[in-house]
Amino acid sequence: MERQPIMPVAQRSSSHLAGTTIAVRPSTNFVTTPAVQELANRALGYLQAGFPIHFRGPAGSGKTTLAFHVAAQLGRPVVFVTGDDQMTTSNLVGGQFGYQYRKVVDRFIHSVLKYEEDAIRNWSDHRLTTACRDGCTLIYDEFTRSRAEANNILLGVLEERLLVLPVPNQNESYIKVHPEFRAIFTSNPQEYSGVHDAQDALSDRMIMMDVDYFDRDTELGITASRSGLAESKVAKIVDLVRDYRASGEYDQAPTLRAGIMIARMVASQNLRTSSADPRFVQICLDLLGARSAFSSRSTEERQQHRKMLMSLIDHHCPALQADDEPADKQPRLRAESGEAVQRRRSARSDSAHPGNGSAEMR
Ligand SMILES: Nc1ncnc2c1ncn2[C@@H]1O[C@H](COP(=O)(O)OP(=O)(O)OP(=O)(O)O)[C@@H](O)[C@H]1O
Ligand SMILES: [Mg+2]
Repeated sequence: MERQPIMPVAQRSSSHLAGTTIAVRPSTNFVTTPAVQELANRALGYLQAGFPIHFRGPAGSGKTTLAFHVAAQLGRPVVFVTGDDQMTTSNLVGGQFGYQYRKVVDRFIHSVLKYEEDAIRNWSDHRLTTACRDGCTLIYDEFTRSRAEANNILLGVLEERLLVLPVPNQNESYIKVHPEFRAIFTSNPQEYSGVHDAQDALSDRMIMMDVDYFDRDTELGITASRSGLAESKVAKIVDLVRDYRASGEYDQAPTLRAGIMIARMVASQNLRTSSADPRFVQICLDLLGARSAFSSRSTEERQQHRKMLMSLIDHHCPALQADDEPADKQPRLRAESGEAVQRRRSARSDSAHPGNGSAEMR
């Protein structure tokens, strides 16, 4: 009997961890302040007790970073999924893809040719199945971007700890969820484009934790760590962004990320955080001005908005302020700068070299 080799059309990818999971370690770049630590400890406590958690908060509030940080503490491989309107149950779980062909040519009796051919459909595990099978930590980022129908599969996983396969695999119709399996979800309740409401039954199975904008110290620490910029300069940028956020004069709230971006630009181009530096001002206007929708505002309103931003920039990063002085020293510095200007003016009238005073202003 002559047996032809099996010709797989698509390799069956069972729960091989490589390529599907991420090995996460606590990051040295992660900034821990009392506010962050409290949130992380609380989340970890719930996860260790076996509950799924849901970080809910506005864009750029640190949900995904916190999810990875907490997942790293659990010490299990991480499976990362991002919600998407096109997500289907089979994208999450897997399904039957391709065929495995088997052909048998039997010449046991030389005058008789027996010929058999069959095809078996290949089952391929996708990320949720891998996570459930191998006890990984699932981070399902922005899960409300997926339709409720796609996420329904999670109901049994989180409650009965059973993953019911929508299309039965060859040997199994459901998978018992590994005891170490944990799930962390994130969502942005302020997002209105491309999101769906989380179904009550799913929300009811998770512990909701609100991640709002961090306190000033945390934003300072994160922005300094992410940009490598001196803290005195970071303080001015963070205060500018926070003040703008408090003003409510925007269509899209300025996030921690906006501050990090400005700080990184200042660091990479070695700019002064001063309203006297047109490049710095332009970067602030580019990054903060874009928070106001172009289409919904008249030219006059846009000019008003720009003026308001300019006055905020001038307030937090005054032209006469020494660049390395923290923003909270501003009133004193202003007074000093005023004196310096006065001195410079009198020096100008007395001196034959009018340019000398500008160096001390910087
Ligand atoms: N504790 C932290 N330590 C260091 N960096 C942080 C920390 N928290 C947040 N960041 C940084 O802040 C920025 C925003 O964080 P992140 O992407 O986690 O926010 P998000 O809430 O998931 O935002 P989005 O809703 O837009 O996805 C990122 O650049 C991230 O690296
Ligand atoms: Mg995120």
